[in-house]
Amino acid sequence: MLSEKEREEILEETKLYPFPKAACIDALKIVQHHRGWISDEAIADIASELSMSKDEVDGVASFYTRLYRKPVGRNVILICDSVSCMIMGYESIYDYISKKLGIKFGETTSDGRFTLIPNTCLGDCDHAPALMINNDHYNNLSIEKIDSMLEKYQ
Ligand code: FES
Repeated sequence: MLSEKEREEILEETKLYPFPKAACIDALKIVQHHRGWISDEAIADIASELSMSKDEVDGVASFYTRLYRKPVGRNVILICDSVSCMIMGYESIYDYISKKLGIKFGETTSDGRFTLIPNTCLGDCDHAPALMINNDHYNNLSIEKIDSMLEKYQ
């Protein structure tokens, strides 16, 4: 069930659009903001609130990498695996982070500190390889920069 606050915030967003369905992404972001991720139950609640089918809402939620359909850690690392970063060696960055944290793509550390997710182009192609941690961008990555970068996130 959506909380009263979630429902109020979603209602405010729907007022910005000609029809409620158009606020679907906003509604998903609101729920994720409050809960950290978007459960099947939340998908059904949003669908009901916006007069959509569950499949329609899930289709939107599962399209966007940064809408999380399962619980994630306190910090989410999004590593770009698109062409420029591939050419510039994102795999060595991934391998180093994966080994250091003991997790692969789609996994969360046992202490809940980090989740590791692949991501398409982050718009930093001219400074590849690139990644994001939460809302912070990092580019021109090298293995030497990783340890101090991760230390900022507890
Ligand atoms: S391909 Fe990685 S930032 Fe564009």
